[in-house]
Amino acid sequence: METRSGKNIVMIFGATDTGKRIYEEIKDENRVAAFVDEDSSKWGAKIDDIEVKAPAEIPDMQFDYLYIGVLTYYRQVRALLKSMGIPDEKIIGRYVEVPTYARIECLKSIRTLLDEDGVEEGAVAELGVYRGDFAKEINKVFPDRAFYLFDTFEGFTAEDCDMEMEKGYMDKNRTGYFSNTTEQVVMDKMKYPSMCRICKGMFPDSALQIDDVFCFVNLDADLYAPTLAGLEFFYPRLVKGGILLIHDYFSKAFHGVKDAVKEYCDKNEIKYLPIGDTLSVAIRK
Ligand SMILES: C[S@@+](CC[C@H](N)C(=O)[O-])C[C@H]1O[C@@H](n2cnc3c(N)ncnc32)[C@H](O)[C@@H]1O
Repeated sequence: METRSGKNIVMIFGATDTGKRIYEEIKDENRVAAFVDEDSSKWGAKIDDIEVKAPAEIPDMQFDYLYIGVLTYYRQVRALLKSMGIPDEKIIGRYVEVPTYARIECLKSIRTLLDEDGVEEGAVAELGVYRGDFAKEINKVFPDRAFYLFDTFEGFTAEDCDMEMEKGYMDKNRTGYFSNTTEQVVMDKMKYPSMCRICKGMFPDSALQIDDVFCFVNLDADLYAPTLAGLEFFYPRLVKGGILLIHDYFSKAFHGVKDAVKEYCDKNEIKYLPIGDTLSVAIRK
């Protein structure tokens, strides 16, 4: 089904940072008929004059292709589309699947580097676990290391969101975003559960009792305050040769992450590099 101009009619699932990035890349060659998002507060809003619709409207829409534009839960979106009877050949996932794959491959290469360099000491950690989709990869790659999993398991805190709004990183209060998870949801995904230490609560308070050093840490809390706190807590506890990843440095939605990284790294004269997943940077001590 092409338009008279020969363009495909497409939809983008995700009125998100990622969805908007995809839109910018494909808009000249396609006619984007709608964005779709599960967040009801976005329904009816417009992005570049294109309406955001509810997922329930998808079966009534005419389109050639649907681009998945969410990173964190793209597998669930693919499953949802399948359950709606959207054929696989109409679903385009490469914009989110390739970065996800790149991040996992980077993690495996980090393990190889640590082993080659004889980094034998150190636990691993993730700050911002959500539903455990990247955490399960960390656990798989580091089966022999204690794994600390930090999250409120109740989404963004009011305190962090107040700070985001005060600093102009957030246009509306997003307290409780990412609250649709539990420790059990996360633990059910872990291949080596005995190595996992769930640290529930607001970081950095949730880390007060921890007296350990780390060889690998992933910071993925999205916001300025926990990212800065994560750097302040983990960088000094990173063993020599240890590696710290920070997700969302290049995000257009979560501007606070970049500022937190710049603030900490400039002050401490630390350099960082992109890892090729479109969002993260890495620091090696
Ligand atoms: C984008 S999600 C993490 C996604 C996850 N790493 C993945 O790859 O699937 C961000 C998470 O950070 C958590 N978070 C944000 N600020 C926090 C804080 N101060 N303390 C603990 N968790 C926090 C949120 O609850 C949310 O679950």
